[in-house]
Amino acid sequence: MTSDTPKDELVIALSKGRILDDALPLLARIGIEPTDDPEKSRKLVLETTRPGTRLLIIRATDVPTYVEYGAADLGVAGKDVLMEYDGRDYYEPLDLRIARCRLMVAGPVGDPPVHGRLRIATKYARIARDYFASRGVQAEIIKLYGSMELAPLVGLADRIVDLVDTGNTLKANGLVASETICEISSRLIVNKAAMKTKHARVSAIINALREVVEQGDA
Ligand code: ATP
Ligand code: PRP
Repeated sequence: MTSDTPKDELVIALSKGRILDDALPLLARIGIEPTDDPEKSRKLVLETTRPGTRLLIIRATDVPTYVEYGAADLGVAGKDVLMEYDGRDYYEPLDLRIARCRLMVAGPVGDPPVHGRLRIATKYARIARDYFASRGVQAEIIKLYGSMELAPLVGLADRIVDLVDTGNTLKANGLVASETICEISSRLIVNKAAMKTKHARVSAIINALREVVEQGDA
């Protein structure tokens, strides 16, 4: 079952916080600006300065679901969220190069190697399971929903798998990163049906954003 957006509308799903902070300047450069301040407004659907183009403000982990099912035509989501998402039925045409960080394995400073089964605390259960399995390491994955850094400090886990940017959060909690699983940035994703039925408008947005991202790299 899909819930396609009206044909004369274009809906873009974003999450509050980092992604919104980094994506709004990109959207502004292609002429799409919310008419209300998304950080102050309690509205979940925001009109923009481009008639017929709306923003949905949702949880980061829900963005691929909205786009896959057609409740949003486009979305912006971290590669971590997309890799963890249990579905793949959308296009991912553009790396926006925003909200950049790394997905890493970390543990207590000076901790000796663990022999036998490793206990890994993480929000990224699927990615962690695949990563350790591909390396032939036996791991018990303990699913958490936040504050992973606490788990090794209280004996809940031996290691964590979490996002690292400056490394300040790890350092503040006496942890150190040992392995990089992958580099993370946010991607533009597109509903498959919208790519056909709204092709001109969707591809205009992809191309304009690509230009802005490439200019940013110059
Ligand atoms: P929710 O609050 O809905 O659980 P979240 O806490 O994952 O979502 P954010 O912290 O705003 O939401 O993170 C959104 C995305 O930003 C992540 O999926 C990741 O791709 C990226 N990100 C997360 N932490 C960092 C960081 N410290 N530095 C840079 N990018 C990050
Ligand atoms: C993210 C991530 C780390 C931290 C890493 O948390 O889960 O805890 O950033 O960034 P650093 O290396 O620059 O310290 P965030 O700040 O988003 O908190 P939340 O996931 O609990 O919302």
